[in-house]
Amino acid sequence: MMKTVATVALLHLCFCATAPVSGSDSTETALTPSPGDIALLPCYTVGNVTPTVTTWMKNGREVIRGGASSPDPSPADQRLSVLHDGSLNIRGVIPGDDGTYLCSSILPGNIIFHARVLLQVTSGPENVSVSVSPATALANGTLTVTQGSSVSFNCSGSSYPSQELTWAFSGASSSNMSLASTSGPWLNYRIEDIQPSAQGVYTCRAHNPVSHQAVNKSTQLLVYHAPDRHPECMWAPAQDPSHIHFNCTWFGAYPTPTLRWGEDQGDQDAGWKGHIYASEETDSLSVMLNRSVLSDGETLRCMAQHPALAPGTEKSCWFPLKRPYPDGEPMATALEGTDITLTCTEAVSIPPANTTWRKGLQQEDIIPGSKYVLSEEGPVFKLTILNISKDDEGVYFCRSENPLAICVLEVYLTVKTSSAYTGAIIGIFIAALIVGSAAVVAKTIYSSRHRICLGDGFGHMEEDRGDVLSLVESDDEQLFQDTVPRLPPVTNGRHTTLVQIHRIPSSDHEDVETSDTSPQQQEDTVQTEEPADLVTF
Ligand SMILES: *[C@@H]1O[C@H](CO)[C@@H](O)[C@H](O)[C@H]1NC(C)=O
Ligand SMILES: *[C@@H]1O[C@H](CO)[C@@H](O)[C@H](O)[C@H]1NC(C)=O
Ligand SMILES: *[C@@H]1O[C@H](CO)[C@@H](O)[C@H](O)[C@H]1NC(C)=O
Repeated sequence: MMKTVATVALLHLCFCATAPVSGSDSTETALTPSPGDIALLPCYTVGNVTPTVTTWMKNGREVIRGGASSPDPSPADQRLSVLHDGSLNIRGVIPGDDGTYLCSSILPGNIIFHARVLLQVTSGPENVSVSVSPATALANGTLTVTQGSSVSFNCSGSSYPSQELTWAFSGASSSNMSLASTSGPWLNYRIEDIQPSAQGVYTCRAHNPVSHQAVNKSTQLLVYHAPDRHPECMWAPAQDPSHIHFNCTWFGAYPTPTLRWGEDQGDQDAGWKGHIYASEETDSLSVMLNRSVLSDGETLRCMAQHPALAPGTEKSCWFPLKRPYPDGEPMATALEGTDITLTCTEAVSIPPANTTWRKGLQQEDIIPGSKYVLSEEGPVFKLTILNISKDDEGVYFCRSENPLAICVLEVYLTVKTSSAYTGAIIGIFIAALIVGSAAVVAKTIYSSRHRICLGDGFGHMEEDRGDVLSLVESDDEQLFQDTVPRLPPVTNGRHTTLVQIHRIPSSDHEDVETSDTSPQQQEDTVQTEEPADLVTF
């Protein structure tokens, strides 16, 4: 008896509906037990008398008969039994027990009571599982995929009768949008070329259509993406001309990328060999560097690392750093009373140099006015000296400074009076020039603490001539060439630690120049010939 009570309590879980039908002599009940459950099918429930005998029919056939007056109670090993009150007890329900059961109870006074019970065996949904592939799981269980990949969403579970499976999506722009559904053991949903808009929560719902039991399984999916373009490398001058800000930006990546500024000594695919100046998880990384860490020929690279970029396909931008190379004719000759224009070309400096004209061994600034006219045409810097007099004779400097170095072109101006004969004078000039140069070089070596441009040799510098600024990206085909942008002139020239004197006049050197074919050089050559003619007069 205790056991029966417990069973009835358990079975209440399976009752979906119990509804008395048509008056007092009949009821209809629906039961949805799971396989293995004990099902108790009620018969006479509307009164409290005990039926004398109850007959149970299933789908029109009698299956068992028994009751209070039954002479032999059902054996314990039988699955089906009629209990004392006429209800039918089924132990260990199997799917084959589905059906319509009809009972007839004979009540005291020979009243016959009918009841109908619909039995629908159900199970699940259970073992519902979801999988998303290919995806990478974060520590908190959130899955990540890369934009553009094809992603498969699988959901499976078991249920009797067959479950309804639905994939639903909740994202930034939609809430609980149904993607696909089916009736069966599994459901596969596929997204080709997944986009950031597909980021959100994916829920698989398994629903038993009979028991209305439902199981939801959700997974959060992040779509990682990175822009196709390379980062942008920029520079900005610092207050101190020996310092410079390098800035690298790479917007539009999710999640935030890691940017790194470093010295890249090898080929672009040789990776990082040099020093790393800064590395940070950011989409804009700025670093201020100075003359003591930068060197000529070094490539400064900003590399972007991101989980959406496969190893070896990191995006980067870089600057090949070059010290200035002010270029021009080392000697000029002018007739007293005329005007002369000294020309200096600064086309190789990266970052762009601040180029100025100076006068005398003390390298005093030249103030434009009635005597001097300064002009600038692209990379060409001109100094025009008006109404030449003997006082203007001497040494002039075209001084180029960038954050790597200060390099100086020396130009010696010879002023001829119309009466003077030149031969001897030229000799004296050259002697004076050599002495002057030696003095400047000596001064330079003395004051230089870092390096001397002179040390590299002219051969190397000649090769660099005519180079333009290459602001390039990682791929070889993406090579942009620009003329060197200029920094605004800076009048305060305190930093004279790095000085290069080049272009010591020599006949060999001029030969080299004449054979050079770059446009700037041809222009120089024309200017060379003019003073040469004057000398021979
Ligand atoms: C899991 O971590 C990621 C990244 O840290 C975060 O965006 C996401 O919201 C987290 N998910 C949950 C469910 O906390
Ligand atoms: C130059 O930069 C380095 C490294 O950032 C620093 O240690 C050094 O003090 C700087 N020198 C000057 C003169 O600012
Ligand atoms: C040129 O300079 C001389 C003296 O050096 C002066 O006498 C003359 O007036 C000047 N000419 C002009 C046009 O300024």
